[in-house]
Amino acid sequence: MHLFLADSDTTPFLADELRRAAPEAELREIEGLGIAADVPIEGLLLAFARQTLPSAVEVHATSINAWADRIIDAIAGVFPDEQPWRLHLWPQYGEGRAGLHRCELIRASLAERLKKRRRKLLRSLLDTDAVFDAQTSLMQCILTSPETGWLSATLAPQAFAQRALISSFPRGEVPLADDKSAPSRAFTKLVESEQRLGRQIERGQTCVDLGASPGSWSYVPIQRGASVIAIDRSELREDLMRSPRLHFEAADAFKYRPPHTVDWLVCDVIAAPQRSIDLLLEWLREKRMRQFVVTIKFKGHDDYPLLDILKREAPPLCAEFHLTRLCANKNEVCAFGVV
Ligand SMILES: C[S@@+](CC[C@H](N)C(=O)[O-])C[C@H]1O[C@@H](n2cnc3c(N)ncnc32)[C@H](O)[C@@H]1O
Repeated sequence: MHLFLADSDTTPFLADELRRAAPEAELREIEGLGIAADVPIEGLLLAFARQTLPSAVEVHATSINAWADRIIDAIAGVFPDEQPWRLHLWPQYGEGRAGLHRCELIRASLAERLKKRRRKLLRSLLDTDAVFDAQTSLMQCILTSPETGWLSATLAPQAFAQRALISSFPRGEVPLADDKSAPSRAFTKLVESEQRLGRQIERGQTCVDLGASPGSWSYVPIQRGASVIAIDRSELREDLMRSPRLHFEAADAFKYRPPHTVDWLVCDVIAAPQRSIDLLLEWLREKRMRQFVVTIKFKGHDDYPLLDILKREAPPLCAEFHLTRLCANKNEVCAFGVV
């Protein structure tokens, strides 16, 4: 049984996605967490799953030390002693600090016990949220009350292989970027996509930004020393328009073609979802970019099944493909990846 986490308002849409992906599978809603389902996860894309706990098991532990022991039982002899692993441990109950405090105590007890019994495993425990590499295993532990929760141990290279479903950030929550000088908060979507992808727009690279005004996506590559071709009907903020790294064209985003393959397509255009999906597929088929971040915006909830086309057709055109409702997304999802 895999556990797929979602916010409570998006859990019904996650259930729909799972039903469309695996009509025979039995789904069990876990209140406040998401959905448990026995579905094949290889190649599965779920835009509304924030995080995935593969082969998750429900556990009961009456004390801090009992929690630490449960975690050790799940990984000892399973994760190779010398290989790196990560621990995502968090509380999903209560409002205050009590759950967080309990998790800190469990972490401390775990370190203490590993030091005595499995010193090598303690040494290979990493403290990072960099995107998984093929050597890193992942232990996830959610406390749903002081004494109950879920455990999931994912042996390398599975966390890496399933990184479109398994976020390298605990519970799939990426801390939102902050920069008061950007024209708007919209840049947080671009930065979060980069963080989940483990790649970012770099100095010297070229980007096309479709639907670029007022410019908070273009702002990111410009700040980093990359150059941008910005396409919109309206101009960007004045200082960005003056930047020598920005070339603005007042054109239709759906008709624009780049003069050569660019490092990044970034697109946050307001359009019907099918148009953004078609645009992305066309750019992928024509290999016009090496990497991409594209927002797909919705008006209501009825259009979500349109994403199935993208799930089917984009992965074969990509070295890596993600489709996720980001923490920074409202009624929209982002497709991002590497061609
Ligand atoms: C959500 S805003 C983009 C915000 C931008 N990413 C930012 O961070 O500042 C969407 C933009 O898409 C532009 N847009 C909508 N349809 C377009 C089209 N067919 N061609 C070019 N731009 C379009 C709008 O003018 C608008 O500026």
